[in-house]
Amino acid sequence: MKSSGQKTALQVPMLDLGRGYAGIREEVLEAIARVCDSQHYILGEEVTAFEREFAALCGSAHAVACASGTDALWLGLAASGIKSGDSVITTPFSFFATASSIVRAGARPVFVDIEAETLNIDPEKVRQKLQAASPRPQAMMPVHLYGQCADMEDLNRIAGEFGLSVVEDAAQAVGAAWNGKIAGSVGGSAAFSFYPTKNLSAFGDAGILTTNDTELAERARSLRNHGSKQRYYHDEIGANSRLDSIQAAVLRVKMKRLPQWNKERADRARVYDQLFERAGLVGSANHKATKVALLKTRPQALHIFHQYVVRVPQRDELRNFLKQRGVSTEIYYPVPLHLQKCFAYLGHAEGDLPEAERAAKDVLALPMFPELKIEEQKYVVENIAEFFS
Ligand SMILES: Cc1ncc(COP(=O)(O)O)c(C=O)c1O
Repeated sequence: MKSSGQKTALQVPMLDLGRGYAGIREEVLEAIARVCDSQHYILGEEVTAFEREFAALCGSAHAVACASGTDALWLGLAASGIKSGDSVITTPFSFFATASSIVRAGARPVFVDIEAETLNIDPEKVRQKLQAASPRPQAMMPVHLYGQCADMEDLNRIAGEFGLSVVEDAAQAVGAAWNGKIAGSVGGSAAFSFYPTKNLSAFGDAGILTTNDTELAERARSLRNHGSKQRYYHDEIGANSRLDSIQAAVLRVKMKRLPQWNKERADRARVYDQLFERAGLVGSANHKATKVALLKTRPQALHIFHQYVVRVPQRDELRNFLKQRGVSTEIYYPVPLHLQKCFAYLGHAEGDLPEAERAAKDVLALPMFPELKIEEQKYVVENIAEFFS
């Protein structure tokens, strides 16, 4: 393993939003001007049009726009009828909001371990958990991690058998699909995030819930607006989670480019795979012999590579080496959810969910965005090769 004495030749960011913005600047500014001229800033025509277009993109009947992906997750659970005292199965290897939304809906998260090859929740372990659980959880929230859908066929089958609602956490997966069905129309409902780093991103916080269930959509629509269908009449306690018109206008411009951007992400993932293979860095699945282990894309998945993540046993040393060479990386996620301090009341200890715990120690996300250049990808992999030389 080398120390990084060499001069920095390139700076490779994880994400450069500026490159994408350069290509759409005029159109975005026009869209924002349209909203300013209308003087209508919350919900309204712009949001309704965005909801219609986003539902069409996902092949779902309804879309309910809201203030963030976090709120969309909560809306999905609450509108599915999850309430105080219920429990919801989810993955321990995700962003915090996946689990916090369950608590916010009044329920208890039930963590089930992940598959080593995709880092998505393991359907077989979900089945085992449900067979043993008493009382049974009322819902499951699979996460489409890094842009690859969880095994929605198996999960839907299991949910059907055990009578669970399914709320997809599709925050990282706009445009992804499983067996030809687009994320957002695979489960009972699906939550998306348009946080600025996401593959479809707003100019601030924004989110949306999609569903084919008309009743669920109506309840979510009311919940995002203080539980009110008619002004000043409140059927239940909701939240202020309405989407700003400016965000909808920006998202409508960007959404037109999404298929191309997703394709460019997948192309870059293929380039990374090839560069790693050619550099002889890809180790066996036997972790001890591995330099770099690549995650698997399942044949059923249309993976949109929100992130390109590899597994490296010497992750922290490599990350530090790359930083000194000008290469930015990230760790999604360094602490599995079941070991977060705020979930101590669930009574988990280290060793309970070994795959998630191992992933937290060895995952490394490399620079990934549609405008990433091939020279930059080569530079990243060359430096990883040098680290191991
Ligand atoms: C898997 C996952 N779930 C939920 C969220 C929450 O979305 P937001 O940041 O828009 O609230 C995010 C993104 O931040 C995420 O990556």
